Amino acid sequence: MSSKTMAMQLEITELGNPVLRREAEHVEDIGDPEIQDLIDDMILTAEAASGVGIAAPQVSKSLRIFIMAGTSSPRYPDAPKTETKVIINPEIVSVSEEVEKGFEGCLSIPGIRALVPRHKLVRTVYRDRDNNTVEETFSDFAARVFQHEYDHINGLVFLDRVESSVEIITEKEYMKLAAQHDSEKQE
Ligand code: NI
Repeated sequence: MSSKTMAMQLEITELGNPVLRREAEHVEDIGDPEIQDLIDDMILTAEAASGVGIAAPQVSKSLRIFIMAGTSSPRYPDAPKTETKVIINPEIVSVSEEVEKGFEGCLSIPGIRALVPRHKLVRTVYRDRDNNTVEETFSDFAARVFQHEYDHINGLVFLDRVESSVEIITEKEYMKLAAQHDSEKQE
């Protein structure tokens, strides 16, 4: 965490930028101050954009790093509040057979949401920013975020996983659906 400089907001790459389609590189030296600064900048950038996650290729760095942001986000009204996690050099060890469809969006694809099938459970192993090996199982929304970000470091975006173009909608229509869903829950 010993960054000499203040974290700064980075420009987010959008669909069409080749960096989003590249397989990102393994991080060799997690303690490198440049890597630590990048992590701080990514956390700030995700928070500023109300994202629930951000991957290094989304800030033009082709590295196997992503953030799962902990703040509750107005972009995802139904998302549970969790702590921010820094995920480096991750592997998916195994997945549940059970798959669930849920709406996703992406900071690199503004204005669009789509129903994406994801495994309900993923067993993972990764390094944290202190270079500890972490074994963690994610479920439901967190599993969805993990799989979405993991795709980013392999050059994939959520639209690649959509089963039918009918399941792609605008953010405006998504917000209407989410509001409807909320009022149904209160009744
Ligand atoms: Ni994304």
